[in-house]
Amino acid sequence: MVIGLFITIDGIDGCGSTTHSKLLAGFLENKGYNVFLTREPTNSEIGKLLRIYLKNDKIPPETDALLFAADRSYHYLIDIKEKQEDGFIVISDRYKEASIVYQSVQSERISTKWIEEINKFAQDPDITIILDIDPAISLSRKTQKDLEKFENTPFLDKVREIYLERAKSQNYYVINSDDIIEFVQGKIQKLVLKHLKQKA
Ligand code: TMP
Repeated sequence: MVIGLFITIDGIDGCGSTTHSKLLAGFLENKGYNVFLTREPTNSEIGKLLRIYLKNDKIPPETDALLFAADRSYHYLIDIKEKQEDGFIVISDRYKEASIVYQSVQSERISTKWIEEINKFAQDPDITIILDIDPAISLSRKTQKDLEKFENTPFLDKVREIYLERAKSQNYYVINSDDIIEFVQGKIQKLVLKHLKQKA
């Protein structure tokens, strides 16, 4: 059985993870690969609740963390694992790393270790790509009246710092996304093709 490659693209709000996940999926499909493009929060009932909670800053960070973990265990066990076993390349626009970073920044009561523990049923991806951008730039591209609870510069400055620290310690790829889209996408495609060649 050939298990498909599992890629996640993550980073602060407005880093371009959705745009680049879609472009990468199209690129790989054009090359003849079967691709499963997915995202978190998912479209499940838990994911829908999380999207409502993203507009509510009264929700305890622990509740957020547990819901993201519940959404993810369902996502991994019901969707991702099966698609991988069917040989699909899975691309998830955000995954476990987002919980480790965002929820630990949300509250001092939340440790990385605890987040890893509650997410242990969701397997790690093969490739994690962190798109890096200054929050002042990424937020300036968003409609200011529709901002969610994490979308403010001081919070995202801290989130960015932790993403970069984690990328160093976990050997993730970091790509500067404050650049021409085609150029950023070209870098992502190059590194994914390198992994696919190694896997072949
Ligand atoms: P999105 O803007 O990429 O759709 O992501 C929604 C928001 O949810 C974004 O601010 C990051 C946040 N988030 C977490 O805090 N923890 C998680 O585990 C995930 C997947 C997202």
